Amino acid sequence: MRLPPLLVVLLGYALAGDGSIRVPRWTVRPINVNCPQPVCTTAKDLNTLWATPDATQFIRCRPAPTGFWMIELNPCAPGTLFQFSKQACVATRNWSSC
Ligand SMILES: *[C@@H]1O[C@H](CO)[C@@H](O)[C@H](O)[C@H]1NC(C)=O
Repeated sequence: MRLPPLLVVLLGYALAGDGSIRVPRWTVRPINVNCPQPVCTTAKDLNTLWATPDATQFIRCRPAPTGFWMIELNPCAPGTLFQFSKQACVATRNWSSC
């Protein structure tokens, strides 16, 4: 299923808000560390999926209404986590950071 971009953005922020509310659980959430920072400059950047610290989400570049590029938070499917090196959300048991 493909969601309209705006809905995906809202969903991503809802999940992020949920994570920051449950502060005591933060330390046990799977975290991507030392992954490359998201940039949306070159054609390669635009075709790259980027990690966020919260491994249940990833970022990609989307065209903004202003004509520039913006980053868009996307959730991984339940039971999967984003792995930068694989450029995909992978099963939790197969995941490692970046
Ligand atoms: C984990 O990775 C292995 C090797 O790539 C693959 O065969 C297996 O199906 C994966 N496990 C899950 C749960 O996706």
